[in-house]
Amino acid sequence: MEILRVENLIKTFQISKAQQKKLDLQSNKKVAVNGISFETRSGEIFGILGPNGAGKTTTMRMLATLIKPDSGDVFYNDISAVKAPELVRSKFAFLTTDLKLDMKSTASKMFDFFAELYHIPKEAALKRKEELFESFCISSYADTKISKLSQGMRQKVSLVISVIHDPQFIIFDEPTNGLDIIAAKDVRDFILQMKEEGKCVIISTHLFDLVERVCDRAAMIIDGKIVVNDTLENLKQGKSLEDAFYEFYLSYQSKEQGGK
Ligand SMILES: Nc1ncnc2c1ncn2[C@@H]1O[C@H](COP(=O)(O)OP(=O)(O)OP(=O)(O)O)[C@@H](O)[C@H]1O
Ligand SMILES: [Mg+2]
Repeated sequence: MEILRVENLIKTFQISKAQQKKLDLQSNKKVAVNGISFETRSGEIFGILGPNGAGKTTTMRMLATLIKPDSGDVFYNDISAVKAPELVRSKFAFLTTDLKLDMKSTASKMFDFFAELYHIPKEAALKRKEELFESFCISSYADTKISKLSQGMRQKVSLVISVIHDPQFIIFDEPTNGLDIIAAKDVRDFILQMKEEGKCVIISTHLFDLVERVCDRAAMIIDGKIVVNDTLENLKQGKSLEDAFYEFYLSYQSKEQGGK
């Protein structure tokens, strides 16, 4: 069993005078993430939901060791991301919808290139390519120029290449943002297939529909804090996720205002 444990992450950014004014803040510091903790494990898709500016991307970037928390830590099977970032980097993939593909190349050639970059032995790489291309239905266009592929096909190739090193954890910030409906479906299927393979998938999004379709558990972030974290079934209580979360949002707001 693979476990991701996020412990009390805090991240503050220094901001410009203009940003300070825009955000209506007293100081030139913005607390983007304010004590976030959660745990998730293999075979689970964990969703982080929240409005714009809630701290989703900042949290995901700390999970992916791209930025260091001011305090708190992320543990991949008890290995600290703060103390051993190089060690934990081999355990996860940080996925984005940006395509990092060479339009003149092919899926097959690009796979080989990245396999070499990751020092995967030739035979093992060939086996992994066959398996991945087969399970994501890429085989039939593996040797077609990337420039000739549809957006959905390109997206799939890009995602498959991101998991070339067989990571146990998949971190995905806004997986379907800006994609057309076909590409978005391909990405959704990819996420579900990763779960089938026993991976632990963490997605962040502001789309209720995506969470409702794929997540087993979700947390809602507002102002850098987790307001609620539960299984989808418990969160929904027979309502739509949107309605359920809106109620959490209103009760959070009235508590905040009561405290002021
Ligand atoms: N590098 C930075 N410097 C200054 N402020 C930042 C920086 N990164 C994020 N912030 C601020 O921290 C807060 C949280 O930002 P973050 O990008 O994590 O939110 P988000 O939930 O991903 O929002 P969105 O839904 O818009 O992507 C915002 O107020 C943002 O302006
Ligand atoms: Mg974001």
